Amino acid sequence: MSRVAVVTGAARGIGAATVLGLARAGWSVVAVDRDGDDPRLPYAMGTRHELDDVVARAGALGAGTAVAHVADVTDADALGAAVAVAETRFGGLDAMIAVAGVIAGGTPLWEMPADQLAAVLDVDLGGPITAARVGVPALLRRPEPRQGRFLAVASAAATRGMPKLAAYSAAKAGVTGLVRGLAADLAGTGVTANAICPGSTDTAMLAESARIYGLDGTGPFAEQQAVGRLLHPDEVAAALVWLAGEASSAMTGTVIPVDGGLSL
Ligand SMILES: NC(=O)c1ccc[n+]([C@@H]2O[C@H](COP(=O)([O-])OP(=O)(O)OC[C@H]3O[C@@H](n4cnc5c(N)ncnc54)[C@H](O)[C@@H]3O)[C@@H](O)[C@H]2O)c1
Repeated sequence: MSRVAVVTGAARGIGAATVLGLARAGWSVVAVDRDGDDPRLPYAMGTRHELDDVVARAGALGAGTAVAHVADVTDADALGAAVAVAETRFGGLDAMIAVAGVIAGGTPLWEMPADQLAAVLDVDLGGPITAARVGVPALLRRPEPRQGRFLAVASAAATRGMPKLAAYSAAKAGVTGLVRGLAADLAGTGVTANAICPGSTDTAMLAESARIYGLDGTGPFAEQQAVGRLLHPDEVAAALVWLAGEASSAMTGTVIPVDGGLSL
């Protein structure tokens, strides 16, 4: 039987690449994203059309399958409904993968508009916490011996102080604490909790990061990485797909850089 995942932030970027990577590996995936923009933020979120397109592309791969589910990751009932789809339609949940995130900043923390601050903390830290609260019970409903995976996407900003992104750094550092605490709570269950810290990856969020810093484009971010280029979303998704699988069973409570050497 194929393994089953819920992936948030699935309409584009790293989340979309994760859905496609899992489907290619034979997984069944509930692909979650919000429908519509976040009125607190000055840039566009993924769209329903993009989410449906990712699901169609996953289906066309001919290995696994995917279904779209609209939910805001800060809404426990809506995200819980995505988990219910995994259980009723696909028979259970093996991986809860919290990818959805937003960025805001561009000022010192004390000058950041309060609604943008709330958006960053709600989505980037509250989202993974909600994913754990609705997803882990389903991971534990699988019979023993189980191979459940809780995964969250933090950031190189969790461990490096980046200028004018203090709220984002705080939220992402919170995600690293979250997986360590969850790993302790999950001891002996067969369910693990891990996070990755991507470097600069070529997505809509990175374009917004460039705008925040007043840059013409994302090129300068490439120069900060030892690989000398931006990462492709597929490269980051590859780490998540591997971590979601049974081969990562020795790892829990870990925070793994997938950053092209940004944190060297
Ligand atoms: N791109 C980078 O350079 C980079 C670097 C480090 C970490 N990250 C992290 O990787 C993750 C994915 O980022 P990305 O670059 O693919 O960004 P992206 O903006 O391309 O995609 C993020 C997706 O999350 C969705 N989303 C946002 N708020 C949501 C909500 N409340 N509910 C449901 N869905 C929501 C958006 O609609 C969008 O489809 C984020 O957590 C981000 O912080 C990205």
